[in-house]
Amino acid sequence: MKFFIDTANLDQIKEAQSLGILDGVTTNPSLMAKEGITGRENILKHYVDICNIVDGDVSAEVISTDFEGMVKEGEELAELHPQIIVKVPMILEGIKAIKHFADNGIKTNCTLVFSVGQAILAAKAGATYVSPFIGRLDDISTDGLNLISEIREVYDNYNFQTEILAASVRHTMHVIECAKIGADVMTGPLSSITGLAKHPLTDIGLEKFLADYKKGN
Ligand code: G3P
Repeated sequence: MKFFIDTANLDQIKEAQSLGILDGVTTNPSLMAKEGITGRENILKHYVDICNIVDGDVSAEVISTDFEGMVKEGEELAELHPQIIVKVPMILEGIKAIKHFADNGIKTNCTLVFSVGQAILAAKAGATYVSPFIGRLDDISTDGLNLISEIREVYDNYNFQTEILAASVRHTMHVIECAKIGADVMTGPLSSITGLAKHPLTDIGLEKFLADYKKGN
């Protein structure tokens, strides 16, 4: 299972990268705005800065909602750095753009996916990744993890190569359940990754080992 961090915060990206288990980064316009990154030039520079920190894939989202605009923007994003994955919204114009990018060797991440039908369209268009937003489904009393299970089943039925990227992950249990279901990738905040290390018995055990060592030295 690949671990992506879902942020545009360079310090958090550096911290996750330093753990040695980070496989990539996802961003979106809201995450960029949260870091105060505004204006086309600054945003493009920020993507390059992120690529220079991590080894893996970095999703960069198009803002256009029409095919021609998405293609123009996506090609510009893809030229920024070999690690860039063009993030395209799940709308029909987006499906056309994903197909175009797939035919031209540009990798994509189909975002804002909330149903199995949308995931099928993304796979048929040749998306590299599909991003079902599980936390936002949970927010409206709908089982986000169930969507991951359903997409896994359908993709396995037809051997679709699109990777299931569980997005809008909010906490450690989302990560663990996604791993059990067989999501290919998860993207979440730094806390959803570092939280996996926490266990009170580990802390108690370590404290005792260190205390016992001190007794004998
Ligand atoms: O990057 C898209 C997705 O992960 C957003 O998450 O927490 O805003 O629902 P969230």
